[in-house]
Amino acid sequence: AVLEGLRATLLRWYDNAGRVLPWRKVQDPYRIWVSEIMLQQTQVKTVLPYYDRWLQAFPTLQTLAQADQQQVLKLWEGLGYYSRARNLHRAAQQVMAEHQGIFPQQLEDLLSLPGIGRTTAGGILSAAFNQPISILDGNVKRILARLTILPSPPGKAQKELWQLSDAILDRENPRDFNQALMDLGATICTPKVPKCDRCPWSSHCLAHQTGTPTHWPMRETP
Ligand code: ADE
Repeated sequence: AVLEGLRATLLRWYDNAGRVLPWRKVQDPYRIWVSEIMLQQTQVKTVLPYYDRWLQAFPTLQTLAQADQQQVLKLWEGLGYYSRARNLHRAAQQVMAEHQGIFPQQLEDLLSLPGIGRTTAGGILSAAFNQPISILDGNVKRILARLTILPSPPGKAQKELWQLSDAILDRENPRDFNQALMDLGATICTPKVPKCDRCPWSSHCLAHQTGTPTHWPMRETP
């Protein structure tokens, strides 16, 4: 019943306070994939203009696969971590060759594409197909570490964190639930000055209850 309450309060909060973002208005897996790759190491507000320009130039997976690498890298200029652009390009060619241009829906198939790890795959499959696949990026680790006052640094608790993310996922609405978690981490449960007064989970959050939100996640020891 606690988990159900957490899911319901988060989804209600997201309905009211969630960000309106272009990749949330579509279900085209290609467009969602491009957004997830751009967002891997880059903030939303930086990504927005790049995302628009990219989709103007490469509106479909096929147009990306057929583009030349010069043009691909040119559109990425300024975003950094250029291997992300090269991986998108190569992955598009791999989807053309191995899946007849149809973006795959199987987790294992996504994981075999360059640049797609578990969190990116979960982000894509939940957003595009509403598949119940959990995610665990830095924001989600921080939220879960605070909620449970996780007694080890995230690097030492990967397995527990994935289990928590899996247990808490709303299987009726994984699409909105995962997007809501990302928004909670980006706007409320922030690293330095979390806004616990506006958090839908504060009444269940052990870090908030003990007055120690910024003590978590524990620092990795070298
Ligand atoms: N960061 C990673 N994926 C995201 C998404 N879909 N929306 C907002 N921020 C994100």
